[in-house]
Amino acid sequence: MGRGGGGGVSQPASEVALRARIGDHEFPLHIGAGALESVGPLWAGRAAGDGVLLVFDGNVAALAERLSGSLQAAGLRVVLAEVPPGEGSKTMAEAERLCRDAARAGLRRADAIVALGGGVVGDLAGFVAASYQRGVRLVQVPTTLLAMVDSAVGGKTGVDLPEGKNYVGAIWQPDLVVMDTTTLETLPARELSCGFAEVVKYGLLDGEELFGLVESWPALPGPEAELIELIRRCVEHKLAVVAEDERDGGIRATLNLGHTVGHGIEAAVGYEGYRHGEAISLGLLTALRVAVETAGLDPGWRERTASVLARHELPTRLRPEVATPDIVDAISRDKKADGRALNMVLIDAPGSPITLADPPLEVVVAAIEELRP
Ligand SMILES: NC(=O)c1ccc[n+]([C@@H]2O[C@H](COP(=O)([O-])OP(=O)(O)OC[C@H]3O[C@@H](n4cnc5c(N)ncnc54)[C@H](O)[C@@H]3O)[C@@H](O)[C@H]2O)c1
Ligand SMILES: [Zn+2]
Repeated sequence: MGRGGGGGVSQPASEVALRARIGDHEFPLHIGAGALESVGPLWAGRAAGDGVLLVFDGNVAALAERLSGSLQAAGLRVVLAEVPPGEGSKTMAEAERLCRDAARAGLRRADAIVALGGGVVGDLAGFVAASYQRGVRLVQVPTTLLAMVDSAVGGKTGVDLPEGKNYVGAIWQPDLVVMDTTTLETLPARELSCGFAEVVKYGLLDGEELFGLVESWPALPGPEAELIELIRRCVEHKLAVVAEDERDGGIRATLNLGHTVGHGIEAAVGYEGYRHGEAISLGLLTALRVAVETAGLDPGWRERTASVLARHELPTRLRPEVATPDIVDAISRDKKADGRALNMVLIDAPGSPITLADPPLEVVVAAIEELRP
């Protein structure tokens, strides 16, 4: 367990340090500009073993070099494993390849897998961490806005099957999460917008104050200190929900606001053409319409949401080639696979989520039709 070093690491310009607690599992979570450089010392201070398999997205190879340098300078032994970018890497085959990389690197139970990338690498490497030798330590270093506010916290990990997305997985909490907002500098604008769709979701779920911050957000990514604060607010919302319902039997479902119809749209287009966040943008607007019709939500909230989504280049109109019956079919397939009532998450006001079991089909169809130009 050779450690040490870590001296001479420059302090990030601004950094938020949280302690997350889920059940009896506690871990630090840092958000900061330049926080990547502190992963080495932070992990060296917590690690039980000195081995690290650093799993990284091929589009962030330069960040992987820097992260590897930080870990090595802190006395850790690093083996790099590159993952080809894209959802196509979230497979059992890729998970097996990484498990074998870990075995060849001599990774033991006390060692760690570090995930550097977006939700794809986070879910895949997290699943490997949960499975390899029945579980090793996990460090999440998300590099997309979506992964920062959503996938890197909460512990859901997994891979896709040809039969369905996220069909195989595990709940496996990280032991350290570090979010460096400067990594977003290279993220394509479209990906920033997609992450922002989830941020808008948190605004609606959390309440008028966070919604107000979201509504007044300037061009993405936005000023550093404010961005760190925005991410912190979203992460704290998610952590509070997950702490109450880690295994997703109750309140955690509220995080699916916008996702019933959002998933339906993604499935209807065969997961091509719309990115997840874009489908969620449309899903949020549909959910808000259903909420206006069935739960007394003030329609002004839907209009305000539509304008903030549009301002950040997220779709508010459905492309004509996407047929409503295809969306509805996909939603009912989801429901069948789940074997339960279709529970649609709505809000009756910002900060007040509710679930509606089996919403009237005609109301959902009308809410989708409203998205037509
Ligand atoms: N575990 C969860 O709770 C949870 C929640 C939401 C989504 N997800 C999963 O997350 C995945 C989507 O995550 P995502 O949107 O981050 O997608 P992603 O991981 O595919 O990243 C998006 C794109 O950005 C590139 N990229 C990543 N970081 C970059 C950077 N800093 N600079 C330049 N390019 C960069 C990637 O190579 C990729 O092309 C899906 O598989 C979804 O199922 C999981
Ligand atoms: Zn989502």
